[in-house]
Amino acid sequence: MIHFNPQTQTFNLVLQQSHYAFQIDDEGRAVHLGWGPRPAGADDADLITGTNTAANLHFKTQGGFKQNPRRDELLTFGDSNQHEVSLKVNFQGPPLSVEKREPMVQPIRDVRLRYAGHKITGDAQPGLSPTIPPRRWDPRQTLLVFMEDHAYQFLVTLCYRLTPEHDVIERWCEFKNQGESEIVIEMCSFGSLHFPTGTTELTSVAGVWCREFMTQREQLPIGTRVLETRGINTGHTTNPFFLINRPHQAWEETGTVYFGQLAYSGNWRIAIEQTPTFDIRLHGGYNPFDFELKLSPDEHHRTPALVCGVASDGWGGASRRMHAFTRDRILPHPQRDTHLRPVLYNSWEATRFDLSFEGQVELARKAADIGVELFCVDDGWFGGRREADAGLGDWVVSPDVFPDGLEPLIAEVHSLGMKFGLWVEPEMVNPDSDLYRRHPDWVLHFPGRPRTEARNQLVLDFGRREVVATIFAALDKLLSQYDIAFLKWDMNRYATEPGSVAGKEIWLKHVEGVYDLIDRLRRNHPTLDIQSCSGGGGRVDLGILGRTDQVWPSDNTDAFDRIDIQEGFSLAYPARIMEAWVTDVPQHYTRRMSPLSTRFDVAMRGALGIGSTLNKLDDDELAEYANYIAFYKRIRHIVQEGQLYRLARMEEFGASVVQYGLADQSEAVYSIVVGRNLYGSYRPARPLKNLNSKGVYRLVDRHGQEVHRASGYELMTLGVPGDAKQNVGYSRTLHVQQI
Ligand code: GLA
Repeated sequence: MIHFNPQTQTFNLVLQQSHYAFQIDDEGRAVHLGWGPRPAGADDADLITGTNTAANLHFKTQGGFKQNPRRDELLTFGDSNQHEVSLKVNFQGPPLSVEKREPMVQPIRDVRLRYAGHKITGDAQPGLSPTIPPRRWDPRQTLLVFMEDHAYQFLVTLCYRLTPEHDVIERWCEFKNQGESEIVIEMCSFGSLHFPTGTTELTSVAGVWCREFMTQREQLPIGTRVLETRGINTGHTTNPFFLINRPHQAWEETGTVYFGQLAYSGNWRIAIEQTPTFDIRLHGGYNPFDFELKLSPDEHHRTPALVCGVASDGWGGASRRMHAFTRDRILPHPQRDTHLRPVLYNSWEATRFDLSFEGQVELARKAADIGVELFCVDDGWFGGRREADAGLGDWVVSPDVFPDGLEPLIAEVHSLGMKFGLWVEPEMVNPDSDLYRRHPDWVLHFPGRPRTEARNQLVLDFGRREVVATIFAALDKLLSQYDIAFLKWDMNRYATEPGSVAGKEIWLKHVEGVYDLIDRLRRNHPTLDIQSCSGGGGRVDLGILGRTDQVWPSDNTDAFDRIDIQEGFSLAYPARIMEAWVTDVPQHYTRRMSPLSTRFDVAMRGALGIGSTLNKLDDDELAEYANYIAFYKRIRHIVQEGQLYRLARMEEFGASVVQYGLADQSEAVYSIVVGRNLYGSYRPARPLKNLNSKGVYRLVDRHGQEVHRASGYELMTLGVPGDAKQNVGYSRTLHVQQI
């Protein structure tokens, strides 16, 4: 519910369990009042008026200096602001009030926004929203607050869209140049957030290729902590989400936790500043590094969303809200009979570039036998792509690999009852390719300067419309010619030497180009599914998730490494989008041996896939694979659609224990993987969550054997017995069913 009190000029945004309020002050500024969980027992009539608190929120002066920074809803560069800002603008022309004879000082860098009205509407859209609908598209209340810098007729609309059931607010801004001279935006966040004093513990993730999503928890300093990427994609080094709480007052299932995510796949920045006066504010949006956005007279720009919310049930509660929001409101509506993710086979680790029709058919037959539903051919099927040094950009089937085209393979895959998928990397080109030979100027580079190749490839200049049009035509043709149900959309290098016809706007133009390509392909091919991959987990964010169905979190498929990767991933992203493969041992990169049971128990925590060399497995091993896959199909509706509880983390417990449970408490999945031995000691069982305490549950293993039976009450107090003395190599997944 959005409520405006005209007397006090107060806005209240009331969600299921949280509130957010701000007020227009005497000078017309929008000043933040508060954000947090609603007190127990509050009803619709309980609103913040702000009349008692507004004065406290203004500058306090001491010795003539302004002491407390004002909590503007959008913090701008201008006025006497010295702290981090969300918006910095260069006005190129003279302000309306200046007499012509006063010498011009250019550019003028001072934004002072004043309230000019508001509107409450149904479901306005943030910038870069997909054109394909999400799973739920019933309208949501959106507040638009019009703010103006009168000197330049620069209109800034602050937008707040509410998803009350998940306690989520999407913040974004719209800028309109109504003046007569150009405006250059130098810094632009999608919104500013203010946290209560003392909420100084930040949880985020950091990593690199093959070690993405490592959880880090730290104390915010006085000063600014920056999470950011600069490589044109979302990035491996960190990910655009955060959790913030008071130190020692939040835990996995308790305490107030603020959370947020950016719905954007390009260079991003989240800056969290704690001022010396202990005010804590966050700016999330485009990375100002090498950023520029020009607005000519009458031009406007709408930013993507900063998605944010607050949970009073700990990090777990924050994650569950982000998961549910993503599942309901972000992921594309599936155009299929079932909304569950299929079990996938991909031969990348098994065959790499060594593709042939016969080899793929052999793998497809084995895959179908063990229960795979989607067969995906990875890199190497096109142009001159026999290794990672040629062919990118030439999206035509190579006669050297498939002399009769893809039809015979697709026909075989279909006859085996599976769908067919294909790997592509549309934003890239190898210098050794026909596309590059035709258009050597179509890559990001600064003429006359050296340029860097990574994995022998260059990034196409999506600042050129003809480049996006050419790639669209090639992919659209491919999808029209063949019955392709799934694309693995890769992006294997970040951008350097970003010279483009779009100038500094290339960072944004690239993302616009990628989104536009995917949106148009999905419109033309409505049953197509897409997986976002970027050398592993380099492009996972709510922007790409609006137009893809799942992501590849990491090229590292080592079961033990995956536990940490998946745990960090799970802080923000739901299991249904987390493609997770069982692969050969020793593992491709780490060379570690791990039991098949561990590999399956870890991979079954997401959207299960298989990447093993199936034709090297014997019949007994294949039968084991088939047994696990059949079990996964019995529990996947819980994993993919249920609520996640992280019952124990590997780091603290030497074992990772997770539960997925249906909201109606009828079924759950319990999964334990032991990663550290506890000789001479034992591991206490972890109580389960959110079961019916009066109900009776049976716990069934992958063979259909009942291994335990207990009341919901007992499972939620004593946990599952039997795992206490187990050592490394032990793992199990149980289907918890109410009887
Ligand atoms: C990237 C992906 C891999 C694989 C290769 C193919 O590294 O992350 O899964 O598709 O590209 O070149």
